[in-house]
Amino acid sequence: MYWFNGQWREGQTLALDLQDPGFLYGATVFTTLRCYEQSLDHPRSHWPWHRRRLERNLAALDWPSLNWNTLEPVLKTLARHYPVLRLTVFPDGKALATGRALPPDLARRQRKGVTLWVADSPRFVRPLAEQKTGNYLPAWLARQRALKNGAEEAIIVNAQGAWLETNTGNLWGWAENQYWIPSLTGESLPGVAQEGLLAWLASQGIAVRQVPWTPEVCAHFQSLAYSNSVLEIIPCHTLLWGDRRLSFGDFSPWTALRAYFDGQPRLLQ
Ligand SMILES: Cc1ncc(COP(=O)(O)O)c(C=O)c1O
Repeated sequence: MYWFNGQWREGQTLALDLQDPGFLYGATVFTTLRCYEQSLDHPRSHWPWHRRRLERNLAALDWPSLNWNTLEPVLKTLARHYPVLRLTVFPDGKALATGRALPPDLARRQRKGVTLWVADSPRFVRPLAEQKTGNYLPAWLARQRALKNGAEEAIIVNAQGAWLETNTGNLWGWAENQYWIPSLTGESLPGVAQEGLLAWLASQGIAVRQVPWTPEVCAHFQSLAYSNSVLEIIPCHTLLWGDRRLSFGDFSPWTALRAYFDGQPRLLQ
């Protein structure tokens, strides 16, 4: 079941006008969130943060704002059925609300980590990367290349070779006894999971180094991970970087961050 343009519908197919710019050009913005305990309002679902990012994206593109009095009850209903919700907005204000399951192997990825592949070209950078638009073609292509190379996720790099984000998440590094993230320069998506983690770490007096992730900086990380709202935090056990195959065995920095995802309600508003 899903909701589109004012109506509940059944099934897995959507009828769109052939001239719809969402279909023709990927002209949509969206957010994907995980609903904890079947509730949009659960503090860990971070719905107000997703809503705020969506509103900012719409304002940045000069698209109409949404009627939350209609959409929030829709999302609350979907949250009772699905742990992952996606709200997609079209340039004319039409909205599509869908739900899905968590990935079946999520616990394995969280515990054992994944292989990351460093993309070998800046052509995988998403356009308007600071917004969550429907144009994920470069990120999707990067993931196909990652899969071909035996990895599960790609690290996206800019023209200077600096690492920006992964194809679905924000990067985290561990070195010199500190957490590191790439500086937020408009070349990556400001993630809700990253924002929450940063606020939580700051509340405990733990500083996070934000610098451009040049190849020199990246070469000194002892451990790597990525975050997003659905998967939370996923460690990297193997990094494929050019000809190099690097192994990371110490996941303790990421295990420590799990306390945030496992429930620190007072920090999440
Ligand atoms: C390219 C990209 N970067 C970062 C993120 C992390 O965003 P969030 O934490 O809001 O899920 C996502 C989420 O899907 C993403 O697709």
